[in-house]
Amino acid sequence: MSKYRDNPEAVAALVRDTEIHKDCYVDEELFRLEMENLFANTWVYVGHASQVSRVGDFYSTTVGDQAVVMVRHTDQSVRVLYNRCAHKGVQVAPDGCGNTGKFFRCPYHAWTYKTDGSLLAIPLKKGYDFPEFDACEAKRGMKPVGEVKVYRDFVFCRLNPEGVGFEEFFGDSLSTLDNMVDRSPEGKLEVTGGVMRYMHRCNWKMLVDNQTDTCHPMVAHESSAGTAVKVWQAAAEGTPKPMAVELFAPFINSYEFFENMGIRVWVNGHGHTGVADSIHAAYSPAPGYLESMVAAYGEERAKRILGDVRHNTVYFPNIMVKGPIQTLRLFKPIAADRTLVESWTFRLVGAPDLLLERTLMYNRLVNAPTSVVGHDDLEMYERAQQGLQTRAAHWVNVGRLYSPTEHGQTNAVTNGTNEWQMRAQMRAWVKYMTASMKHGVSA
Ligand SMILES: [Fe+2]
Repeated sequence: MSKYRDNPEAVAALVRDTEIHKDCYVDEELFRLEMENLFANTWVYVGHASQVSRVGDFYSTTVGDQAVVMVRHTDQSVRVLYNRCAHKGVQVAPDGCGNTGKFFRCPYHAWTYKTDGSLLAIPLKKGYDFPEFDACEAKRGMKPVGEVKVYRDFVFCRLNPEGVGFEEFFGDSLSTLDNMVDRSPEGKLEVTGGVMRYMHRCNWKMLVDNQTDTCHPMVAHESSAGTAVKVWQAAAEGTPKPMAVELFAPFINSYEFFENMGIRVWVNGHGHTGVADSIHAAYSPAPGYLESMVAAYGEERAKRILGDVRHNTVYFPNIMVKGPIQTLRLFKPIAADRTLVESWTFRLVGAPDLLLERTLMYNRLVNAPTSVVGHDDLEMYERAQQGLQTRAAHWVNVGRLYSPTEHGQTNAVTNGTNEWQMRAQMRAWVKYMTASMKHGVSA
């Protein structure tokens, strides 16, 4: 029997002021509803335009559980199509990326499509020379997603044709993407260094929660980052500080550091840690970088861009962006207890190579399947996924520093260990989970 389908009140009751029901993390029906509603009603990250820079370039990926292909059309625009042949349903574009030329060709029966999805040709066309074919779904070709928006080369889509607008959905949170792009003296980013993929046996929202969880680094990462710092402290005096230590060390900063760095909560589940300070604030300067930024933007603006050292920005539902170190993590939902984590890195066009080296090293040290820091978190998620299966209790607590006055507030800045951002995410979850159900519930 269906417990949550077409029952927005039951879905809304899973999110209390300071508690989240465990079903949100373990229930397969809710996972299906997330795919059908949450991931269809929100603006979800697809990829970066630099992945499809030439006409015909494509990249196959997923939005929620939907296979899509992002492609550079002949008019230079970026299109996002469901990756499904209109004929028998075969995935037209293969996994990964490549260049398809002027059209896609299904490998099964050679139906071909222009890169905007429209049907181009069918072999033995005369077999379809009857008026009824015009009314068939197949005649319409590969279906585009509801809407696509390319914001400073970041490609987002909303699967549903109707719903919240892009600007309305993201509000002021787009300032994090602006800052990351503005860190290039040429105002341009390129995906560089491939992608690191890492399967996690846990619910995707555990990863999203973790991005603004500032009470765990000094505990969970003591064994990895803490050990790196101890090894460094034992090094001979005068030894130059390795880049790896500079990247690791802030993970075991004090509670006070994380409290003081602050957190900002925007609309619709978007927010970021690191308002006044962050773990990325004290990296050593790259020779020549400030000079090239000043030449591009003028001194005042260059310093303002580089002085904005946000830590983790969550774009709800499922990405996290780090502007100062140019990484993006995508939490792809696979099942209620499976998440594929992708970690992407970007080159700041026109900036010194040292910055890319730092970005790539950070990704390897912290996010890679071979990293030490990422494993600390992975074990916590998987143990939580197991613990939540027990019948011991029903609720996950997100009540730290809760205040009844926070409801409805946006663009609020508060103590960096406040779990307000996690609460705001789940209020947005209710809003978009129920938006397409009868009598949707507003959070
Ligand atoms: Fe962590």
